[in-house]
Amino acid sequence: MSVRWHKFPDPAAAAEACCRHIVAILEEALSGKDLATLVLSGGATPKLLFRRLATSGLPWKRIHLFWADERCVPPADPQSNYRVAQEDLIAPAGVPHSNVHRIRGELMPDHAARNYVDEIRDFFDLQHDEMPHFDIVQRGMGADAHTASLFPGEPLLENRDTIAAAVYIEKLKQWRVTLLPGSLMAAKHTVFLVTGAGKAEAVRNVFQAPYDALEYPAQIASHHSRRVAWFLDDAAASLMD
Ligand code: 6PG
Repeated sequence: MSVRWHKFPDPAAAAEACCRHIVAILEEALSGKDLATLVLSGGATPKLLFRRLATSGLPWKRIHLFWADERCVPPADPQSNYRVAQEDLIAPAGVPHSNVHRIRGELMPDHAARNYVDEIRDFFDLQHDEMPHFDIVQRGMGADAHTASLFPGEPLLENRDTIAAAVYIEKLKQWRVTLLPGSLMAAKHTVFLVTGAGKAEAVRNVFQAPYDALEYPAQIASHHSRRVAWFLDDAAASLMD
Protein backbone atom coordinates (compact mmCIF):
# COMPACT_ATOMS: atom_id res chain seq x y z
CA MET A 1 0.00 0.00 0.00
CA SER A 2 1.59 3.25 -1.14
CA VAL A 3 -0.54 5.41 1.11
CA ARG A 4 1.14 8.08 3.14
CA TRP A 5 0.57 8.16 6.88
CA HIS A 6 1.83 10.70 9.36
CA LYS A 7 1.79 10.51 13.12
CA PHE A 8 1.77 13.31 15.66
CA PRO A 9 2.11 13.50 19.46
CA ASP A 10 -1.54 14.30 20.12
CA PRO A 11 -4.94 14.90 18.45
CA ALA A 12 -4.43 18.66 18.23
CA ALA A 13 -1.15 18.26 16.34
CA ALA A 14 -2.70 15.70 14.01
CA ALA A 15 -5.66 18.00 13.34
CA GLU A 16 -3.34 20.95 12.70
CA ALA A 17 -1.29 18.98 10.16
CA CYS A 18 -4.45 17.63 8.54
CA CYS A 19 -5.78 21.20 8.28
CA ARG A 20 -2.59 22.38 6.57
CA HIS A 21 -2.88 19.49 4.11
CA ILE A 22 -6.50 20.30 3.29
CA VAL A 23 -5.68 24.01 2.89
CA ALA A 24 -2.84 23.23 0.48
CA ILE A 25 -5.03 20.96 -1.64
CA LEU A 26 -7.92 23.43 -1.78
CA GLU A 27 -5.62 26.36 -2.59
CA GLU A 28 -4.06 24.33 -5.38
CA ALA A 29 -7.51 23.39 -6.70
CA LEU A 30 -8.63 27.02 -6.61
CA SER A 31 -5.56 28.13 -8.53
CA GLY A 32 -7.11 26.52 -11.59
CA LYS A 33 -10.86 27.01 -11.19
CA ASP A 34 -13.48 29.19 -9.52
CA LEU A 35 -14.91 26.67 -7.06
CA ALA A 36 -13.59 23.75 -5.00
CA THR A 37 -15.38 21.01 -3.08
CA LEU A 38 -14.66 19.64 0.38
CA VAL A 39 -16.47 16.63 1.86
CA LEU A 40 -16.67 16.47 5.65
CA SER A 41 -17.19 13.51 7.94
CA GLY A 42 -18.87 13.43 11.31
CA GLY A 43 -18.18 12.01 14.72
CA ALA A 44 -16.09 13.65 17.41
CA THR A 45 -12.61 13.53 15.88
CA PRO A 46 -13.01 16.27 13.25
CA LYS A 47 -14.15 18.97 15.72
CA LEU A 48 -10.56 20.12 16.29
CA LEU A 49 -9.96 20.07 12.52
CA PHE A 50 -13.10 22.11 11.80
CA ARG A 51 -12.04 24.78 14.31
CA ARG A 52 -8.63 25.03 12.67
CA LEU A 53 -10.15 25.22 9.19
CA ALA A 54 -12.46 28.00 10.39
CA THR A 55 -9.44 30.22 11.08
CA SER A 56 -7.36 29.08 8.10
CA GLY A 57 -8.19 32.06 5.91
CA LEU A 58 -9.49 29.87 3.07
CA PRO A 59 -11.80 31.71 0.59
CA TRP A 60 -14.98 30.01 1.77
CA LYS A 61 -17.08 31.88 -0.79
CA ARG A 62 -15.38 29.63 -3.37
CA ILE A 63 -15.59 26.37 -1.42
CA HIS A 64 -18.65 24.12 -1.37
CA LEU A 65 -19.20 21.72 1.51
CA PHE A 66 -20.67 18.24 1.25
CA TRP A 67 -20.87 15.34 3.72
CA ALA A 68 -19.55 11.80 3.62
CA ASP A 69 -22.51 10.75 5.70
CA GLU A 70 -25.27 11.96 7.99
CA ARG A 71 -27.40 10.52 10.69
CA CYS A 72 -31.12 10.59 9.82
CA VAL A 73 -31.94 13.21 12.42
CA PRO A 74 -32.96 16.88 12.14
CA PRO A 75 -30.13 19.40 11.60
CA ALA A 76 -30.43 20.76 15.13
CA ASP A 77 -30.09 17.31 16.67
CA PRO A 78 -26.87 16.85 18.73
CA GLN A 79 -26.17 13.72 16.65
CA SER A 80 -26.26 15.66 13.36
CA ASN A 81 -22.93 15.76 11.52
CA TYR A 82 -24.13 18.96 9.88
CA ARG A 83 -24.72 20.54 13.30
CA VAL A 84 -21.13 19.78 14.39
CA ALA A 85 -19.77 21.41 11.24
CA GLN A 86 -22.20 24.33 11.55
CA GLU A 87 -20.96 25.12 15.06
CA ASP A 88 -17.25 24.61 14.52
CA LEU A 89 -16.70 25.59 10.89
CA ILE A 90 -19.64 27.00 8.91
CA ALA A 91 -20.71 29.70 11.35
CA PRO A 92 -17.26 30.84 12.52
CA ALA A 93 -15.83 30.81 8.97
CA GLY A 94 -18.88 32.47 7.43
CA VAL A 95 -19.39 29.78 4.81
CA PRO A 96 -22.23 31.06 2.60
CA HIS A 97 -25.48 29.13 3.03
CA SER A 98 -25.57 28.43 -0.71
CA ASN A 99 -22.23 26.63 -0.41
CA VAL A 100 -23.53 24.16 2.18
CA HIS A 101 -24.95 20.97 0.71
CA ARG A 102 -26.09 19.13 3.79
CA ILE A 103 -27.84 15.78 3.77
CA ARG A 104 -31.41 16.47 4.86
CA GLY A 105 -31.54 14.09 7.78
CA GLU A 106 -35.01 15.29 8.70
CA LEU A 107 -36.48 13.58 5.63
CA MET A 108 -37.32 9.89 5.33
CA PRO A 109 -33.98 8.08 4.71
CA ASP A 110 -34.56 7.11 1.08
CA HIS A 111 -35.91 10.57 0.28
CA ALA A 112 -32.90 12.19 1.97
CA ALA A 113 -30.56 9.99 -0.07
CA ARG A 114 -32.32 10.76 -3.37
CA ASN A 115 -32.34 14.47 -2.54
CA TYR A 116 -28.60 14.39 -1.80
CA VAL A 117 -27.75 12.47 -4.97
CA ASP A 118 -29.79 14.96 -7.02
CA GLU A 119 -28.01 17.88 -5.38
CA ILE A 120 -24.59 16.35 -6.11
CA ARG A 121 -25.58 15.59 -9.71
CA ASP A 122 -26.82 19.15 -10.20
CA PHE A 123 -23.71 20.70 -8.70
CA PHE A 124 -21.32 18.63 -10.82
CA ASP A 125 -23.65 18.53 -13.83
CA LEU A 126 -23.26 14.75 -13.94
CA GLN A 127 -24.63 12.34 -16.50
CA HIS A 128 -26.66 9.49 -15.02
CA ASP A 129 -23.82 7.02 -14.50
CA GLU A 130 -21.09 9.50 -13.60
CA MET A 131 -19.43 9.80 -10.19
CA PRO A 132 -18.57 13.17 -8.60
CA HIS A 133 -14.89 14.05 -8.35
CA PHE A 134 -14.72 15.94 -5.06
CA ASP A 135 -11.49 17.86 -4.66
CA ILE A 136 -10.94 16.42 -1.20
CA VAL A 137 -12.84 14.03 1.04
CA GLN A 138 -12.11 14.14 4.76
CA ARG A 139 -12.84 10.79 6.34
CA GLY A 140 -12.74 9.29 9.79
CA MET A 141 -12.70 5.71 10.91
CA GLY A 142 -14.37 3.83 13.70
CA ALA A 143 -12.70 1.24 15.93
CA ASP A 144 -14.34 -1.40 13.72
CA ALA A 145 -12.72 0.17 10.62
CA HIS A 146 -16.01 1.63 9.39
CA THR A 147 -15.79 4.86 7.42
CA ALA A 148 -18.54 7.29 6.51
CA SER A 149 -21.56 5.13 7.39
CA LEU A 150 -20.18 2.03 5.70
CA PHE A 151 -19.85 -0.57 8.42
CA PRO A 152 -18.25 -4.01 8.15
CA GLY A 153 -20.45 -6.52 6.35
CA GLU A 154 -22.66 -3.87 4.71
CA PRO A 155 -23.65 -5.12 1.20
CA LEU A 156 -23.52 -1.54 -0.12
CA LEU A 157 -19.74 -1.81 0.27
CA GLU A 158 -19.78 -3.63 -3.07
CA ASN A 159 -21.80 -0.93 -4.84
CA ARG A 160 -19.59 1.22 -7.06
CA ASP A 161 -22.37 2.57 -9.30
CA THR A 162 -24.50 4.64 -6.91
CA ILE A 163 -23.37 7.99 -5.51
CA ALA A 164 -25.06 7.73 -2.09
CA ALA A 165 -27.74 5.72 -0.35
CA ALA A 166 -29.71 5.29 2.85
CA VAL A 167 -28.40 2.54 5.11
CA TYR A 168 -29.74 1.07 8.34
CA ILE A 169 -27.04 0.51 10.97
CA GLU A 170 -28.30 -2.50 12.94
CA LYS A 171 -25.89 -2.17 15.82
CA LEU A 172 -26.78 1.49 16.28
CA LYS A 173 -30.48 1.00 15.48
CA GLN A 174 -30.14 4.08 13.30
CA TRP A 175 -30.79 5.09 9.68
CA ARG A 176 -28.10 7.08 7.95
CA VAL A 177 -27.29 8.41 4.49
CA THR A 178 -23.78 7.78 3.21
CA LEU A 179 -21.59 8.26 0.18
CA LEU A 180 -20.92 4.88 -1.38
CA PRO A 181 -17.58 3.43 -2.54
CA GLY A 182 -17.90 4.80 -6.09
CA SER A 183 -18.00 8.38 -4.81
CA LEU A 184 -15.24 7.81 -2.27
CA MET A 185 -12.95 6.24 -4.88
CA ALA A 186 -13.61 9.05 -7.37
CA ALA A 187 -12.27 11.71 -4.98
CA LYS A 188 -9.25 13.61 -6.27
CA HIS A 189 -7.77 13.57 -2.76
CA THR A 190 -8.67 11.81 0.48
CA VAL A 191 -7.52 12.58 4.01
CA PHE A 192 -8.12 10.45 7.07
CA LEU A 193 -7.92 11.98 10.52
CA VAL A 194 -7.89 9.20 13.12
CA THR A 195 -6.87 9.54 16.75
CA GLY A 196 -7.01 7.57 19.98
CA ALA A 197 -5.75 4.18 21.15
CA GLY A 198 -9.14 2.66 20.46
CA LYS A 199 -8.47 2.99 16.72
CA ALA A 200 -4.96 1.46 16.77
CA GLU A 201 -5.95 -2.09 15.81
CA ALA A 202 -8.19 -0.89 13.01
CA VAL A 203 -5.39 1.35 11.71
CA ARG A 204 -2.97 -1.59 11.64
CA ASN A 205 -5.54 -3.81 9.91
CA VAL A 206 -6.35 -1.20 7.27
CA PHE A 207 -2.67 -0.85 6.42
CA GLN A 208 -1.40 -4.39 6.94
CA ALA A 209 -4.29 -6.80 6.32
CA PRO A 210 -5.05 -7.95 2.79
CA TYR A 211 -7.62 -5.79 0.97
CA ASP A 212 -11.10 -6.70 2.14
CA ALA A 213 -13.47 -3.74 2.12
CA LEU A 214 -16.29 -5.80 3.58
CA GLU A 215 -14.13 -6.43 6.64
CA TYR A 216 -12.26 -3.11 6.66
CA PRO A 217 -14.38 -0.44 4.95
CA ALA A 218 -11.76 2.24 5.62
CA GLN A 219 -9.57 0.47 3.03
CA ILE A 220 -11.89 1.89 0.36
CA ALA A 221 -10.09 4.61 -1.60
CA SER A 222 -7.14 4.00 0.66
CA HIS A 223 -5.73 0.65 -0.38
CA HIS A 224 -5.56 1.41 -4.07
CA SER A 225 -5.91 5.10 -4.62
CA ARG A 226 -3.05 7.48 -4.80
CA ARG A 227 -3.48 10.88 -3.20
CA VAL A 228 -4.58 9.47 0.15
CA ALA A 229 -2.99 10.72 3.37
CA TRP A 230 -3.60 9.58 6.92
CA PHE A 231 -3.11 11.87 9.90
CA LEU A 232 -2.79 9.92 13.14
CA ASP A 233 -1.84 10.66 16.69
CA ASP A 234 0.74 8.42 18.40
CA ALA A 235 -2.01 6.47 20.15
CA ALA A 236 -3.82 5.54 16.93
CA ALA A 237 -0.48 4.72 15.28
CA SER A 238 0.80 2.70 18.24
CA LEU A 239 0.53 -0.70 16.48
CA MET A 240 2.12 0.44 13.25
CA ASP A 241 5.70 -0.71 12.78
C1 6PG B 1 -20.11 9.40 11.61
C2 6PG B 1 -18.82 9.52 10.83
C3 6PG B 1 -18.05 8.26 11.03
C4 6PG B 1 -16.87 8.66 11.89
C5 6PG B 1 -16.40 7.49 12.71
C6 6PG B 1 -15.38 7.95 13.76
O1 6PG B 1 -21.15 9.85 11.13
O2 6PG B 1 -20.02 8.90 12.75
O3 6PG B 1 -18.89 9.97 9.60
O4 6PG B 1 -17.61 7.59 9.92
O5 6PG B 1 -15.84 9.17 11.07
O6 6PG B 1 -17.53 6.93 13.35
O7 6PG B 1 -16.08 8.73 14.68
P1 6PG B 1 -15.30 9.43 15.92
O8 6PG B 1 -14.48 10.51 15.29
O9 6PG B 1 -16.39 9.98 16.79
O10 6PG B 1 -14.46 8.36 16.56
